[in-house]
Amino acid sequence: MGRVAASRSRKRPPEAIGERYNGGVNQTQTQEVWNERTLSDPHAMPDKAKRVRAMFAAISRSYDLNNRLHSMGRDQTWRRIAVATAGVKTTDTVLDVACGTGDLSLMCADAGARRVIGVDFTHEMLRVADTKRRPAGEATVGKRHRGEMMLADGDAMRLPIADRSVDVVSIAFGLRNVADPRKAIGEFYRVLRPNGRLVILEFSLPTNAMMRGLYQMYFRHVMPWTATLVSRDRTGAYRYLPRSVNTFVDRQTILKELVKAGFVSVAARPLTFGVAVVYSGRKRK
Ligand SMILES: C[S@@+](CC[C@H](N)C(=O)[O-])C[C@H]1O[C@@H](n2cnc3c(N)ncnc32)[C@H](O)[C@@H]1O
Repeated sequence: MGRVAASRSRKRPPEAIGERYNGGVNQTQTQEVWNERTLSDPHAMPDKAKRVRAMFAAISRSYDLNNRLHSMGRDQTWRRIAVATAGVKTTDTVLDVACGTGDLSLMCADAGARRVIGVDFTHEMLRVADTKRRPAGEATVGKRHRGEMMLADGDAMRLPIADRSVDVVSIAFGLRNVADPRKAIGEFYRVLRPNGRLVILEFSLPTNAMMRGLYQMYFRHVMPWTATLVSRDRTGAYRYLPRSVNTFVDRQTILKELVKAGFVSVAARPLTFGVAVVYSGRKRK
């Protein structure tokens, strides 16, 4: 077992967790990843996964700060709503895909999930998540999670998790960044137990024309400058962000893909004028 393992030593869980994150790093990118050409349709880039990983490696240390500042603290509220939508219970094993710096994983562990497995393919992001983990305990009093939390290196399109082994799959602001979201949705379905719950939190655009206009002004012309300044980023991460949202599939398409994958009771709930949306669905019994 690597340096990072379960926050409380326990027997190895029945599901295969693949390679646990061992504290190593991928290569930190300090050079340009996104420019006018690659941003014309970032989702169509054949090497999107490589670019996405390099970008998150570069911004990992200031990622949380930028999230809080540029969403005016709303990002944590959105994650809380996602956890509530998933209805996390004390018997649940939660798989938090593209967990990044672990904010959603931590919330699931604090909500009482028996076990949370955070999976991401950018070691620099996992490294930040690792610094935020606390030991598991019976209560949130003091500095303990109610449930156990572990981190693993893994790809959303080839999850290192056994079939039908988790009760909840969550993914926050990750689906848009995955090279083939359809493939990832198929993986979510595979690893969920029958009747298991899926919750996806993702950026969207307000449907109200005036709100949309105001938001686009901020999102495209203010945030990229200030966020780049805060992170001292050279990869173009905060130009990629609005571009990747504006060119990503719409809400209806995501819902259709969930149904096609086999999910039932699918729904989309817009948050904060539709700046974010929480999608949910269930695997058939
Ligand atoms: C915007 S961050 C979201 C992090 C976190 N879920 C949150 O709520 O802040 C997107 C994350 O997706 C990860 N990611 C993108 N594609 C991935 C893939 N194919 N497999 C695993 N992680 C992936 C990136 O490494 C990054 O950490």
